[in-house]
Amino acid sequence: MPDNDPWGDVELGNIEEKMEEFGIDPIEEIADRMPDHRYIRRGIVFGHRGMDEYLDVLQDGGEVAAITGIMPSGEAHMGHKVVVDQMKMFQDMGAQITLTAADIESYNTREISLEEARKLVIEEYLKNYVALGIDLDKTDFYFQSKAGNNHLARAAMFGRYLTQNEMEATYGSANPGKMSSAQVQYADILRPQFPEKGGKKPTVVPVGIDQDPHIRLTREVARKHRDHDFRKPASTYNRFMRGLTGGKMSSSDPKSYIALNDSIEDAKSKIDQAKTGGKDSLEEHREKGADVEEDMVFELLAFHLIKDDQELERIRQEYSSGEMLSGELKQIAKDKIEGFLREHQRKRGGAAPKVEQYIEENFEFDL
Ligand code: TRP
Repeated sequence: MPDNDPWGDVELGNIEEKMEEFGIDPIEEIADRMPDHRYIRRGIVFGHRGMDEYLDVLQDGGEVAAITGIMPSGEAHMGHKVVVDQMKMFQDMGAQITLTAADIESYNTREISLEEARKLVIEEYLKNYVALGIDLDKTDFYFQSKAGNNHLARAAMFGRYLTQNEMEATYGSANPGKMSSAQVQYADILRPQFPEKGGKKPTVVPVGIDQDPHIRLTREVARKHRDHDFRKPASTYNRFMRGLTGGKMSSSDPKSYIALNDSIEDAKSKIDQAKTGGKDSLEEHREKGADVEEDMVFELLAFHLIKDDQELERIRQEYSSGEMLSGELKQIAKDKIEGFLREHQRKRGGAAPKVEQYIEENFEFDL
């Protein structure tokens, strides 16, 4: 797998090297112009491209947009929440929000039927995303397969603006299913700028670094396009949450993540089984302290469960000095996840009928 394959395994790789190679700027440079969000303060969102221009337009009272897509492939989990929280942040900043259900992509690259893809979109993604604060009434939500004739016609015609060399340099060798889904993704990213959506405007796409090939080529399409005046899309880059078991967080390994629909009991047992940075013996732990960076429970706290920086810092110090034990850290995480899931699932229960009605009213599935 080339490390530039957005459909391959996520390569954690060396972030600094990739930033250098692909021209991603450190988030610190714009942090004081962004909302005070823990992802930014903690370097979970570590980079951006093109956000200066975005923030300038926003500051001058202009229209801006944010877009993300979800490729239905399994359960929605705490890794997905990282992007949803950023979309919510951009929504709160005043951006128009677009949410793509990438059913064409999962059909083409994961061999998931359209029917199954749509079910996952509704049950796993939409209901949870609404519970996390995405307001569907203020969102342009669509399925790729129902994106409309203009959207899909443009996607097909973007081919004109890309060369074989660019495609190979960017994706390595990608099969036709991946290529056509990639072109649909360029249309997704440019959709907020389509004439029927109000035209040219700064648009941000919050992504993990795996999606950067798509961002780079969309910027090429935007630059070269003859019939529309597009701004090149901006992007922010978030670190991937590692899996609870220490490897990658992957939908194919339920022990590696806490799903937004997990029962409290299952979530706690996953935390109990998680990889920690604690030492093998009590004596050694007390003496040397934990390796906080290699502790997946601490990672869960830092990404999601502890909003207050001072509280997180206190835990980091106690744990890395050996004063706090892994079992005690896990207990903190179990208490917090219980509170989070209880509240989230209550909201999800409220969101469910609204989402079902929204789908019923807005989409007809004849494909
Ligand atoms: N390719 C993305 C993924 O694998 C999904 C996606 C489709 C997307 N269209 C998008 C992401 C537009 C961001 C913007 O998850």
